Amino acid sequence: MPAEILNQSGMNLAIPCYQRMADRLLRIAGLKDVQLNIIFTDLSGIESLNSRWFDRFGPTNVISFPMDEPGVLGDIIICTQKAAQEADDGITTLRNRVMELLIHGFVHLLGEDHELGGEHERRMTEKERELKTALIREDIMADLCINVDHIATIRQARGGTEPDPVLAAGLVELAGADGIVVHLREDRRHIQDRDVKLLRQVVKTRLTLEMAATDEMIGIASEIKPDIVTLVPEKRQELTTEGGLDVVSLEASVKDAVGRLHHAGIPVSLFVDPEEDQIFASSRTGAECIEIHTGRYADAVNPEEEEREFDQIVKMAGIASDLGLRVHAGHGLNYQNTGRLAAVSDIVEFSIGHSVVARASLVGMERAVREMLAIVKASG
Ligand code: PXP
Repeated sequence: MPAEILNQSGMNLAIPCYQRMADRLLRIAGLKDVQLNIIFTDLSGIESLNSRWFDRFGPTNVISFPMDEPGVLGDIIICTQKAAQEADDGITTLRNRVMELLIHGFVHLLGEDHELGGEHERRMTEKERELKTALIREDIMADLCINVDHIATIRQARGGTEPDPVLAAGLVELAGADGIVVHLREDRRHIQDRDVKLLRQVVKTRLTLEMAATDEMIGIASEIKPDIVTLVPEKRQELTTEGGLDVVSLEASVKDAVGRLHHAGIPVSLFVDPEEDQIFASSRTGAECIEIHTGRYADAVNPEEEEREFDQIVKMAGIASDLGLRVHAGHGLNYQNTGRLAAVSDIVEFSIGHSVVARASLVGMERAVREMLAIVKASG
């Protein structure tokens, strides 16, 4: 079960990143099914807890309250103002300092106590070091979701049944991807309604449905219930999605669509260009995520333009994360241009389709030909 996070600190914090850290800590410790509450508070909040429960005066950085209840690990209270001061003093980032405090509080909840000194102190420090190493190793890894639309494009070229995007999705999952993405377009040029229904039944990771914010699509999504919907703009004549959703101009209708999808229990991501006003507008709609359109970066025609677009994505990902939005990225990403973006810690998920399907068709060619050769030559 995911950790519960409450931000009472009065500061803008990258909650999705802390959520990811806390969930990963629980997983690393083998405690996936326990309840953990994390509360970010301010100086006066932690000061009053410190004096009320421990008879100590002045603010501290973290306090843990273990719970003596089955299925509940306890509460970790972190003072983010104190963490920010300590980050400045130690020349580290706020996020890194909060991670250390989260681990410290977590190890206390696991029953260790450095204040007892000697062997206890040594054990606690060792446990903290272990968890920090494991977390950093995992935290630099974003999720990869594969878009299988173009498997359906090949099928639709003959109007038959092969290749089947549902079977492709199974192979994508076997290879270790974190999710499957499909775009059900109004003109049904590749993915069909049947594909989405079957995918909902067989996908074991998570299913993202990309769609336009129309009544028809909201109705389909509400019935099929993908794990998340990504709202994209759609034009009939375009070859692929061109440009992000203009949330600034369409704020009221996007907000309405987000509300209707939430009513059906579906979280929502908005596919937007890396522009500050689009990100602030997205945050106002109540969507949980944005997916940054990486097309301008991917299509850059010289290194200066690529650098400029890269910097813009990094900056916008930081702003979105600080607003509490999960940040995904996608469009035009390939084997050359994805590595740099994968190192941007605010981006927690990539959605990649065309380059992976294109590569699969080449790296699979030799085997496919050998198999046909075996049939032709065996019968000769
Ligand atoms: N994200 C969104 C919102 C898209 O519309 C697409 C294209 O279907 C992608 C990601 C994947 O882009 P590409 O196929 O270029 O990897």
